[in-house]
Amino acid sequence: MSTSNPALQPLCTSSIIGTGSYLPEKVLTNDDLSKIVDTSDEWITTRTGIKERHIAADDQATSDLAAEAARRAMTAAGVTPEDIDLIVVATVTPDMFFPSTACFVQRKIGATNAVCFDISAACSGFLYALQVARHFLNAGSRTTALVIGAEKLSSLVNWEDRNTCVLFGDGAGAVVIRAVDADTDAPGRVLSTVMGSDGTLSDLLKVPGGGSALPITPENAASRPNTIHMEGRETFKHAVTRMCQASEQALEMAGLTKADIAMVIPHQANARIITAIADRLGLPEEKTFVNVDKYGNTSAATIPVALDEAHRQGRIKRGDIVLLVAFGGGFTWASSVLRW
Ligand code: UT7
Repeated sequence: MSTSNPALQPLCTSSIIGTGSYLPEKVLTNDDLSKIVDTSDEWITTRTGIKERHIAADDQATSDLAAEAARRAMTAAGVTPEDIDLIVVATVTPDMFFPSTACFVQRKIGATNAVCFDISAACSGFLYALQVARHFLNAGSRTTALVIGAEKLSSLVNWEDRNTCVLFGDGAGAVVIRAVDADTDAPGRVLSTVMGSDGTLSDLLKVPGGGSALPITPENAASRPNTIHMEGRETFKHAVTRMCQASEQALEMAGLTKADIAMVIPHQANARIITAIADRLGLPEEKTFVNVDKYGNTSAATIPVALDEAHRQGRIKRGDIVLLVAFGGGFTWASSVLRW
């Protein structure tokens, strides 16, 4: 973000120099789910746009997915693990309460020079993490960061609840960002980011049990408090409103308008939410990236996975204005504008 006071202009800005993603091998289709709960391919497709999702193996933890996405992003960026001096992992499905998933990723990829920590902001987590990492880089205290969104949501799903089990999947996406001179026009620059939170609405989307507020006991285990609970309709309304607002704010902060957008990459929770946002931003289908049909909602992983796919498929090109926007539990929301 630029400021009007020259004394406050950052010396550095941040550029995405490589992207990577990893989806576990196993695919679970809507037809597969209709054998487990009372649902149908027709219902899931019409209400959500999801056709299938990927599910991690029992012996794959979130850090395994994250490490593979990170390796691919480092290869794309042409950097070595030793070049990485910051790892931020956004996740609501950490390997364990502590150590952080970022520390496990560090060990798995051999990034011995990195400072590592996690961010918890549910589906907005990747954009929160990007903003936090960007502050480190812009301030000059770190030079090269891995920002990762990774989830094994299958570990938080109640496979008997048709309201939620059809929605989620596992996966990971990563970017390498590097501090660059503020005066250059290096590709992949993050031009602006806005973030917001509203904790008064925290009950609408949550995993109520398993933490300090409601530990799992033999008495409460049967009611599955350590799984995802969501008020779908209310969440839907807030998601559309907040993502539209955040998009407009991030564009304004970057000194741009809706007409400048080459591609919007929204959080992938529901195709109907994505259509509603695209309609309000006046964007045609070809400027709206959708892959929720293949992966479902992978929370913090949706945006980096989609960004990686959009780049590798040539849907975004150098110089394009790319709008990223997310919404999730908390509630939290965030939007970033990139010049690709
Ligand atoms: O990632 C963070 C952000 N997350 C979101 O933004 C998700 C937001 N919410 C949504 O995407 C949608 O609200 C859902 C996809 C979760 C649900 O769609 P909906 O159109 O809001 O459906 P509903 O919850 O109002 O349920 C409609 C009906 C209900 O039956 P009755 O009460 O009308 O008889 C549900 O029991 O659909 C029923 N239903 C299902 N039927 C078949 C709910 N889930 C299923 C299912 N299969 N899987």
